[in-house]
Amino acid sequence: MSNTPYNFKDYIRVIPDFPQPGIRFKDITTLLKDGGAYRAVIEEMRAAVQHMNIDIVAGPEARGFVVGAPLALALGVGFAPIRKSGKLPGETITANYDLEYGKDQLAMHKDAITPGQRVLIADDLLATGGTIATSINLIRQLGGEVVGAAFLIELAYLTGREKLEGIDVFSLMTYE
Ligand code: PRP
Repeated sequence: MSNTPYNFKDYIRVIPDFPQPGIRFKDITTLLKDGGAYRAVIEEMRAAVQHMNIDIVAGPEARGFVVGAPLALALGVGFAPIRKSGKLPGETITANYDLEYGKDQLAMHKDAITPGQRVLIADDLLATGGTIATSINLIRQLGGEVVGAAFLIELAYLTGREKLEGIDVFSLMTYE
């Protein structure tokens, strides 16, 4: 059970009609600028995934970095960035994906994951699940075992969780 004094949803700013009409954007910058709340969400996530025996955390650009990197530090493991195409300097693999509002391509360095490593994917948001499904695809291509996925926020009505069958999923905040 969590002992946090924070009601984390109070720190999320909901912005209507961004970046497109009809989308209620969940802005995490209002949480990140509060050092105590930021530390507390990372600690809650660490406690929730500690049992997974993770070797490395992977997170997709850009907001996945502000969740995944501190979570990796809290767990005492390394971090593997999943980037939009064309940003990584070494040899990469890529995969296409659909977003809640758009399309893109993700990439990882071929040596980002050692085959057999137990990988936790971390991101700020689970919406349609397209980003995470593509991240899973990349990690599996590299021989990693995706054992868990951790999110600050899950938009349950977009049913992204259905794309994560067989993976231990933790979301700190859920919007129905
Ligand atoms: C957002 C968010 C997640 C993803 C969730 O990232 O940070 O990564 O969308 O949506 P999905 O579950 O429908 O795939 P975005 O691609 O907007 O990039 P950013 O983090 O660089 O803003």
